[in-house]
Amino acid sequence: MKIELNENKVFLENQGLKKEIHPFWLRERIDGKDYIDKITQQRLFDPTELKNNIKIDKLNLTDGFLEITFNDGTYNKFSIENILKEFINNNSTQNIGKVKWDSSFKISNNFDFEENIFEKKSMYEALVHFYKFGFVIFKKVPTKNNFIVNFANSIGSVRRTNFGEFFNVKSKPNPNDLAYTSLPLAPHTDNPYRNPVPCIQLLHCIENEVKGGLSTLVDGYNVSECLKKDYPEYYKILTETKVRFQFIDQSVILENWSEMIEVDQNGNFKQVRFSPRLDFVPLIDKEKLELFYSARKKISELYNSDKFRIEFKLIPGDLIMMDNHRLLHGRTRYDANEGNRFLQGCYIDYDSTEGKLKHLKRELNI
Ligand code: OGA
Ligand code: ZN
Repeated sequence: MKIELNENKVFLENQGLKKEIHPFWLRERIDGKDYIDKITQQRLFDPTELKNNIKIDKLNLTDGFLEITFNDGTYNKFSIENILKEFINNNSTQNIGKVKWDSSFKISNNFDFEENIFEKKSMYEALVHFYKFGFVIFKKVPTKNNFIVNFANSIGSVRRTNFGEFFNVKSKPNPNDLAYTSLPLAPHTDNPYRNPVPCIQLLHCIENEVKGGLSTLVDGYNVSECLKKDYPEYYKILTETKVRFQFIDQSVILENWSEMIEVDQNGNFKQVRFSPRLDFVPLIDKEKLELFYSARKKISELYNSDKFRIEFKLIPGDLIMMDNHRLLHGRTRYDANEGNRFLQGCYIDYDSTEGKLKHLKRELNI
């Protein structure tokens, strides 16, 4: 990729393809101290107030820099490196790439909590692990004073839900959700009835004195890709049918119509939603419904099968951070008479982790 000039025009040459760069695009990137605040990197001028007919009067390309005088009298020396950077897909999280996994996945890479971990290389590595596998486990995270909130806010900001800033998962009388019982929870995603669905869930183990209550995880991305390959018709109907997910309690009614497998405009994986306690299928044609029910049954079978599920026990201090758009989580049954089982949970959004990752990359020169 390189910059070329021809008369008073600037071109971007990429693998034999040459395209002119609009002079306005360059004009609004003028970065002298009168145009950009050097501390915030924010513009000091409003490009929407510029005249539309911006043209280049004079230009010169010399070792790594492009000097331009525009027809409104402004001049700038652009760094070619900075111009080219804008054309390279530098989305650090997309570049990491998801690694699919199934029940043979061995959790080996845990991260010990330490003072100031949020600014350290181990946090960067933990976030990379999170983007690859959809989850990461931190060990020895302080369990006093709802520390999960500090933890979440040190990566991004807590995304509050109807369950509050954070929630306590223990069996309690008159629960408003089955999570607050000792019943098993089959693999599910949280809050599919919200729009948008909270992206990342943190679950922090405070006490775990029971034999059961093992945590389970499933890679929904892997399962949906398997479904696409082996049962394309099922995959298709699950990606095309919007289902009503709903949550009702004394203070709120939350509803969201969405697909169980959501794909982007290129047909690539975006998100799974699965919570058989909360989904209501629309009354579509009988034949379509027939197919839909078979598809839902199949994906449920896959989510619940030994082929895809990992099972492990959280001990006090363990904090699991998981992608609620990609992974399903659950737990096995436990006996509340054996002792206490107490987890705390909260949510954060993706742009938090993405922003943190980019920040650490910059600070640590990675
Ligand atoms: C939840 C949940 C899992 C557990 O609260 O959403 O899935 O291990 N809890 O109790
Ligand atoms: Zn849950």
